[in-house]
Amino acid sequence: MASTRGLRPRGHPVFAAVYDLLGRAAEQELLGAERRRCVAACRGRVLEIGAGTGASFPYWLEAARAGRLETLVAVEPDPHMRRRAAARARRLGLKLELLPAAAEALPFPDASFDAVASFLVLCTVDDPARALAEVRRVLRPGGTLAFLEHVRASGGGAARWQRRLQPAWQRLAAGCRLDRDTIFAVSAAGFAELDYRTRRLPFPIYRLVTGTARRT
Ligand SMILES: C[S@@+](CC[C@H](N)C(=O)[O-])C[C@H]1O[C@@H](n2cnc3c(N)ncnc32)[C@H](O)[C@@H]1O
Repeated sequence: MASTRGLRPRGHPVFAAVYDLLGRAAEQELLGAERRRCVAACRGRVLEIGAGTGASFPYWLEAARAGRLETLVAVEPDPHMRRRAAARARRLGLKLELLPAAAEALPFPDASFDAVASFLVLCTVDDPARALAEVRRVLRPGGTLAFLEHVRASGGGAARWQRRLQPAWQRLAAGCRLDRDTIFAVSAAGFAELDYRTRRLPFPIYRLVTGTARRT
């Protein structure tokens, strides 16, 4: 039976309703291109964790049309996000399996995917170490983790202000944390060949990392 761990039955209806609108400019200016880079690193049987409203789905469709995608599975624990993702997939004509599950309890056997993608999710999961252990478990040896995540400022006034704003931000942004050190977490989870680049975003998000790592 599938685990209910980490599911969010009540979810965040308001956040889900405004998510695409709030992100539209950033998607056009920066995030869309970074999503495309991550998708290009994935081949074969692919899992996307925390798919949200399906903002990455147009890029998966491109990959499917280019013959780079064998199957796409996405998990999303919030029912309001998931409903929007399902509607977007239908609109696009994207074939995928969309399941209610949290990254910390993935309902898949070991080594079932060639690649796992995480877009702006490791900032929000309750337990990043547990989520990354699950991602590692479901990836085949040699498989790819592709990620686009915002991470904490490395120090100074920006880091101080992120810590101050954290409680209010977390409430407004459906649990998102400004202070995650995701690059460290990926490395600590035992991934190898970590390759990433950092982009600057407007405060309070501040630093965006796009990269890949290999499951050993
Ligand atoms: C900032 S949104 C990003 C959505 C989407 N990945 C994107 O790129 O637009 C964070 C997403 O992570 C989901 N999420 C929260 N906790 C999660 C968990 N434990 N496992 C998987 N996804 C989770 C949220 O429901 C939300 O859809």
